[in-house]
Amino acid sequence: MAKQDLTETVIRLAQHRGFVFPGSEIYGGLRNSWDYGPLGVLLKNNLRDAWWQHYVTSRDDMVGLDAAILMNPKVWEASGHVDSFNDPLVEDIVTHKRYRADHLIEEVTGKSADGLSLEEMAALIKEKKITSPDGHELTEPRVFNLLFETFLGAVEGQKETIYLRGELAQSMFVDFKRVMETTRLKIPFGIAQIGKVFRNEISPGNFTFRTLEFDLMEFEYFVKEADWEKHFDYWLEDMQTWVIEEIGLTKEKLRVREHGPDELSHYSKKTVDLEYDTPSGFKELFGLAYRPHDLENHAAKSGADLQVTDPETKQSYFPQVIEPTFGLTRLMLMVLFEAYHVEEVKGEPRVVMRFKPRLAPYQVAVLPLSRQEELLGVAAPLAAQLRQSWSCDYDVTQSIGKRYRRQDEIGTPYCLTVDFDSLDDKQVTIRERDSMKQERIPLANVEEILAEKLARS
Ligand code: GAP
Repeated sequence: MAKQDLTETVIRLAQHRGFVFPGSEIYGGLRNSWDYGPLGVLLKNNLRDAWWQHYVTSRDDMVGLDAAILMNPKVWEASGHVDSFNDPLVEDIVTHKRYRADHLIEEVTGKSADGLSLEEMAALIKEKKITSPDGHELTEPRVFNLLFETFLGAVEGQKETIYLRGELAQSMFVDFKRVMETTRLKIPFGIAQIGKVFRNEISPGNFTFRTLEFDLMEFEYFVKEADWEKHFDYWLEDMQTWVIEEIGLTKEKLRVREHGPDELSHYSKKTVDLEYDTPSGFKELFGLAYRPHDLENHAAKSGADLQVTDPETKQSYFPQVIEPTFGLTRLMLMVLFEAYHVEEVKGEPRVVMRFKPRLAPYQVAVLPLSRQEELLGVAAPLAAQLRQSWSCDYDVTQSIGKRYRRQDEIGTPYCLTVDFDSLDDKQVTIRERDSMKQERIPLANVEEILAEKLARS
């Protein structure tokens, strides 16, 4: 399938099957905002839980945090986001619509515009005669701050400007001392968080790839300055292993790209992106940054003591940070691309979403062959029993063939069919999504067999 067709096909499937819906659709939507539907929320939560399990609960050097979205605005001043969290913008001189200058340049030149100065972008726009998507002349690029502003206070004229958080990291820095005191962790250790962040992106787009609000999973790993490279390399390796082995992205579709000096965020001394080969080329999936000065900055601006004491030398120092950051909603989009397969079965196309079984929205579906009472009397209690351990769908509509196709298309790894023989032999048919192999298994052992198959996959 052509790459662009894959994007459209996956978007269609995601909307049609209830993974993702346009946000505020009945009012005409809102600039590329999306709602996660019944299947999307299951898939997204499974990805989130896999991350939390790998990076937090299975480790003894990591703890979690769930901090407030609204913070004292001084946090964002101290972090540098108020001054430096910017994108370069150009405006169509006729329609006054604004666009990301770097994106328009990349579309025309086919090369990354990351790290180009405003002057260099202006020169390229002139040289390549780049126009707006409507074909009009553009203004010179200007910087635009990505922080979303909102207001605190109900009294007009006395409202204070505050910001919706643009990244999770700041609350991990601000709460650093509290976490150390309450957990008695020693350097090196990490604080992890999952939650919504907000960015006033001027050109959101590509479905859920770039949105105004998105879920982030990130942790700050606090280290001694002398050790930062060792930890950086360790986490880079781990991020790749996790996304390949536990999430199921193909190794060959991933690559690591280091930021050039002009491209680095204002807080970072070294950043690499883990990129994925999407239908529109390699795009940033996750980031890994070395942030040496965050605690030091917050200590200076707030007056708080954010230093720790080295147990050997008894000297005080500011821990530095290695920050692996994972866009959850972006990851889910890549997982949808990766999972999509179409094959021919008996002259008909069969669409299969090959999710890792434990990440699929449903691990199992129970399908009584017909709506007859005797079959429902076996199938409904079986579904109720399985729901205690897994996410289980129960479907009595349409022919069994159509129901199998629907389950394939939403990625359910196992279907259990209750038929008339089940009433006598107390067995059901288990059908495996990828191979379509079917076998009869005893009703009494369904849970045990399923657990064994899911543990292996
Ligand atoms: N604390 C570091 C940080 O936030 P970032 O590179 O700005 O780093 C982290 O963002 C990740 O968030 C990216 O690697 C990407 O997966 C995701 N991301 C960034 N902007 C996004 C957007 N507008 N929509 C969806 N996901 C986004």
